[in-house]
Amino acid sequence: MNLLILETTCDETAAAVVNDRLEVLGSTVASQDALHERFRGVVPEIASRAHVERIVPIIDTALRQACVTLAELDAIAVANTPGLAGSLLVGLAAAKSLAVALNLPLLAVNHVHAHLFACRIAYGQTVFPSVGLVVSGGHTSLFRCEGPLEFQWLGGTIDDAAGEAFDKVASLLGLGYPGGPAIERASERGNSRAFGFPRSFVNDATRLDFSFSGLKTAVRYQIAGPGKAGGIAPQLLEKEIADLAASFQEAVVDVLVAKARHALALTGLHTLLVGGGVAANTRLRERLDELAGNEGVRTFIAPRELCTDNAVMGAIAIERLKAGLVESLDLDIKPGLMRGNPGASVLGKCGECGREDLNLHPVTRTSS
Ligand code: KG4
Ligand code: ZN
Repeated sequence: MNLLILETTCDETAAAVVNDRLEVLGSTVASQDALHERFRGVVPEIASRAHVERIVPIIDTALRQACVTLAELDAIAVANTPGLAGSLLVGLAAAKSLAVALNLPLLAVNHVHAHLFACRIAYGQTVFPSVGLVVSGGHTSLFRCEGPLEFQWLGGTIDDAAGEAFDKVASLLGLGYPGGPAIERASERGNSRAFGFPRSFVNDATRLDFSFSGLKTAVRYQIAGPGKAGGIAPQLLEKEIADLAASFQEAVVDVLVAKARHALALTGLHTLLVGGGVAANTRLRERLDELAGNEGVRTFIAPRELCTDNAVMGAIAIERLKAGLVESLDLDIKPGLMRGNPGASVLGKCGECGREDLNLHPVTRTSS
């Protein structure tokens, strides 16, 4: 059985062909970094227009790579939540068109859950049950993952996502975009203890929330001082930039590792899954490996090529197909992440209906 998967939640246009044994037959990702670089962040209107231009060639490339024709596809999957509204709409329109034209089942993908499913694809079924940490440009969340369709939201950021903080701090330091890889490169020459940046909520073992906006402001004040104009990176020496980058990176990593430990302790689980663009960070990977070595935790970090946005991880849709969770053509986008009330409790509640098992909710469900 061959699945065509589309991913257009943010600024990567991606398509993949994966079979029901989770073998990747073809995968293409068109990055828009060059389009957004001069703005040091994703501009939604530019992103959606670029998706419109690229989606058909990208699908074509993935099918050619896979040596699979449209007639040999068995289902179409698309990430419809969460993400930028305009971007999501492009993928959804393309997926619906193909599903109608080819008379194939339409499957929905939750992009955040898919980031964790990347670990299932890479390491097999034994990754469940586990705590899942998603760290990306748009999300920093912890989940209890009982199985490939059972994700319970445990906590998340109350302001910026970790990747967003990397991007903004890189901009303050005059480094490139995306900020994560740029900060990582600059950190190699820096002293991670040079500046004592804040680590929000790090000692509160019962609170599985994150906050990175204060850290970002602390870097800004360190550069320019409170009340002074930012954007003065050219005045910084290379060594200062390296020290600021390394100290910032260490603060983010400290918090992520501490909260992952707290989530493992609170849930009584011993397996940790980590996915999302920030999971490509070498220092974070090192520290998570130490956690595994020292505390008997099994840690599965998504392979780097499956950390940043891609369509392969959307193969989580195969599990939905097996469970009969096929969508009707009424399927809509859901730009916002359904989550609990930040800081309110360890268990999340659906913002729409108040049920606690929010992440089990299908976006739209029809029986197949
Ligand atoms: O998962 P992703 O591609 O998109 C979202 O779903 O948001 O994550 C992109 C984010 C960006 O903020 C980027 O700066 C960050 O992941 N990132 C990194 C690294 N590579 C990408 N952050 C830290 N270290 C990296 N090596
Ligand atoms: Zn993502």
